[in-house]
Amino acid sequence: MKQDLKNIAVLTSGGDAPGMNACIRAVIRTGIYHGKNMFGVMQGYQGLIDNNIIPMDARSVSNILHMGGTILKTARCLAFKEEAGMELAFKNLQEKEIDGLVVIGGDGTFTGAKRFGEKYNINVIGVPGTIDNDLSGSDFTLGYDTAINTVIEAIDKIRDTADSHDRLFFIEVMGRDSGCIALRTAVASGAEAVLLPERETSLKELITKLKAGASTKKSSSIVIVSEGNKYGGAYDIAKSVKRKFTHYDTKVTILGHLQRGGSPSGFDRILGSRLGYAAVNALIAGESMQMVGLYGNAIKLTSLEDALNTHNYKLESDLLEMTHVLSI
Ligand code: F6P
Repeated sequence: MKQDLKNIAVLTSGGDAPGMNACIRAVIRTGIYHGKNMFGVMQGYQGLIDNNIIPMDARSVSNILHMGGTILKTARCLAFKEEAGMELAFKNLQEKEIDGLVVIGGDGTFTGAKRFGEKYNINVIGVPGTIDNDLSGSDFTLGYDTAINTVIEAIDKIRDTADSHDRLFFIEVMGRDSGCIALRTAVASGAEAVLLPERETSLKELITKLKAGASTKKSSSIVIVSEGNKYGGAYDIAKSVKRKFTHYDTKVTILGHLQRGGSPSGFDRILGSRLGYAAVNALIAGESMQMVGLYGNAIKLTSLEDALNTHNYKLESDLLEMTHVLSI
């Protein structure tokens, strides 16, 4: 049922992701186009609690489409997990008569939005914004594509030096409990192996694979280590492998937070624009407690509850077998 919302606010929360600014721009301008008063909340849920909520117009979001990070800033807000924090947040929204909320973020953001929406009956729509790509109901989350491109660029550079020195590199990538970044970048960079949180590759299997490469005169090898895999960080794994496989000189690179920064790719600019536009249209159409996502090439709504169900999110496991075969 169509809703007569007057005032809509948008916030970004959790880890920043490239494309968030494109999404903020789309939310603000779509709302204004439909005659709504638009607000930006600074620093995620912390800004709701602190009443750091500012009016925004079409010009507040000029020239941000290409920028990484988030102009609204972001935070991981512990106070919002408490009843007192949520109550204050609700009071501040009520005071400004804000009747619709768009939250851009990952699983922590959606968990907060779900509790908040259920308790205070707020109209809330989530936009999947995280480089981890670990939400169900969207093939891609905002920032994932840019992060992949950033990692690939870095690995290409490491490959140059690895090859020149005949070295074995362990490269650690982000993703928390999700191996999505690791898996896609492994394919795109021709990595010899990849260690994921979702699938177990034993160190024995890894060493067998590296030995096979060395025996067929591979000059360098690259192993991508997803930070959430069960054998630990890249330094630990490199140490364990080195003990049993001395063929190469071994080096470690932790890519870290550079994976979250940078100008969004064309894909993420378009995705951010589509999702922001769809989020406001969904609110106006009377939807709430839903996430807007990209499914195939269409925008689809998924309940926040289903979006958070990691059993529904699919790792592209065919890529794992393919990486193994293509890197012989
Ligand atoms: O969720 C995004 C993410 O970049 C994860 O990949 C990573 O584990 C985490 O955030 C790092 O968080 P922080 O910036 O708080 O250290």
